[in-house]
Amino acid sequence: MDRNMSHEETNPDSIQISRRKMMGVVVGVINLGLIASVVGPVIGFAAAPLGQKRKQQWIALMDEKLIGPGEVKEVTYSLKIVDGYHEVEQMYTVYLRRGTDDVICIDPTCTHLGCRVKYQTEHHKFVCPCHGGVFDDEGNNKSGPPPKPLERHPVKIEGGKVWISRDV
Ligand code: FES
Repeated sequence: MDRNMSHEETNPDSIQISRRKMMGVVVGVINLGLIASVVGPVIGFAAAPLGQKRKQQWIALMDEKLIGPGEVKEVTYSLKIVDGYHEVEQMYTVYLRRGTDDVICIDPTCTHLGCRVKYQTEHHKFVCPCHGGVFDDEGNNKSGPPPKPLERHPVKIEGGKVWISRDV
C-alpha cells in the first residue's frame, strides 16, 4: 500500500459515500435539465402574446361629404383585434368633428373614470353621465372631474373618405 494515500482514500466506506454524492449531483443535473425542457416551452408559449407588437391600422369611417363644417357625428365601426391567441371582432364608437379646414376624431371615453360621454347637439358639448363631466365640441374638458381633454385619434382624408388610425 502507498504510504502517501490518506485514510479517506483507502477507506472503502468513504469511497462509497463519494460515489453516492457524485451520483446525487449527476441525477440532480439530469432532473433540472428535464424540468427546464418541459417548463421552458410552456412559459414561452404562454408569454408569446405579451411580446407581440401592436400595429397601426387605418380605417375608412365615412364619406367625407357626409360631414359638414361645424358638425359632430357619432360613428360606429368594427375592428378585428388580436386578443392573446384569438382574433375577435369588436365594435367601437368615435365622434368626428369637422372644423373650418380639418376633421378631428374624438374618443368618447371619459378621462375621469372611463364612462362613455354623449354628445348633446343642441348644446355643442359632450357630457359624461357618470359624474357630470363636461367637454366642449372639440373634446376639451370644461367642467366637472375630468382632468384632461378627450383622447383623439389620428385622421386623414383620402379618396373622398375620412380615415382614422387605431392600434390593433
Ligand atoms: S367618469 Fe366621466 S365624469 Fe367621472
